[in-house]
Amino acid sequence: MDKKVTVVGAGNVGATTAQRLAEKELCDVVLIDIIEGVPQGKALDLAEAAPIEKHDAHLTGSNNYDASAGSDIIIITAGIPRKPGMSRDDLISTNAKIMEGVTMQVTNLSPDAILIIVSNPLDIMCHIAYETSGFPKNRVIGMSGVLDSARFRAFIAMELDVSVEDIHALVLGGHGDTMVPLPRCSTVAGIPITELLSKEKINALVERTRNGGAEIVGLLKTGSAFYAPASAAVKMAESILKDKKKILPCAAYLEGEYGINDLFIGVPVKLGANGIEDIIQITLTDEEKAALQKSARAVETLKNK
Ligand code: APR
Repeated sequence: MDKKVTVVGAGNVGATTAQRLAEKELCDVVLIDIIEGVPQGKALDLAEAAPIEKHDAHLTGSNNYDASAGSDIIIITAGIPRKPGMSRDDLISTNAKIMEGVTMQVTNLSPDAILIIVSNPLDIMCHIAYETSGFPKNRVIGMSGVLDSARFRAFIAMELDVSVEDIHALVLGGHGDTMVPLPRCSTVAGIPITELLSKEKINALVERTRNGGAEIVGLLKTGSAFYAPASAAVKMAESILKDKKKILPCAAYLEGEYGINDLFIGVPVKLGANGIEDIIQITLTDEEKAALQKSARAVETLKNK
């Protein structure tokens, strides 16, 4: 393939991301992890599935960053996941050190890459990757809103018993309990869900979306969600690799947009070959504005810890 994507962290999210990238034949994939044998074993296993899945993406696994050199995109999933009772914020001290180390290594060898950050707490990990890399802000992007809005879309489809395909949803804010799902911008075949569901039902779906990650952690008990997070990261990578210029909610570094400064937070962005090519500013209602500000304050508090 003419594109190369490195996925750092060959655990649940990383390996599933590698699988989806390869099966969609988007790029060659390099999997990196600190555990000896794991990235090599998973890459080989995925390569052995290729004849059946019918793709020609090359998969390589390594404990050495040399294999990642010259990547177009680096997806960072390294770090520890949540256990029941933990919030994403509880992961900060462990994952911050991991994020700093990983970012230094990957960016030395791929100075022109676009970074997609997946490790939690997401908005803070983006900030660490941004500062450590010294990359321009368009090349550091966090995977948050694509996942949160996919969860919202799935719950809307379940509630209405309709296809998920034509459902769009928008979730702004930090990737945590203060995220801001926007029902008025969420539609089924163009029809706002506010026309189709009662206020109480919508509130219940919004609440379930906010707790979407915790709901999975509570069921799995040994880790956190990975199928949907991997799908979301791959959706973002695809828009960049194919220069599709999709409008997707992602964590972006804001400098005044939405009245927020010096913070990564989820907003609608245009994703193309140059990473974030535009930050879309929509007019929010007073209630939405207040919710976004509250979410920004929560991210800021964590950042200042
Ligand atoms: N360098 C490379 N890989 C590392 C490093 C490091 N410094 N530290 C940890 N890892 C690897 C682990 O060895 C493990 O294989 O990261 C992988 C993480 O995989 P899992 O434990 O399966 O966690 P996962 O569910 O994939 O979640 C990873 O993504 O969604 C977020 O909150 C989640 O922060 C977590 C991250």
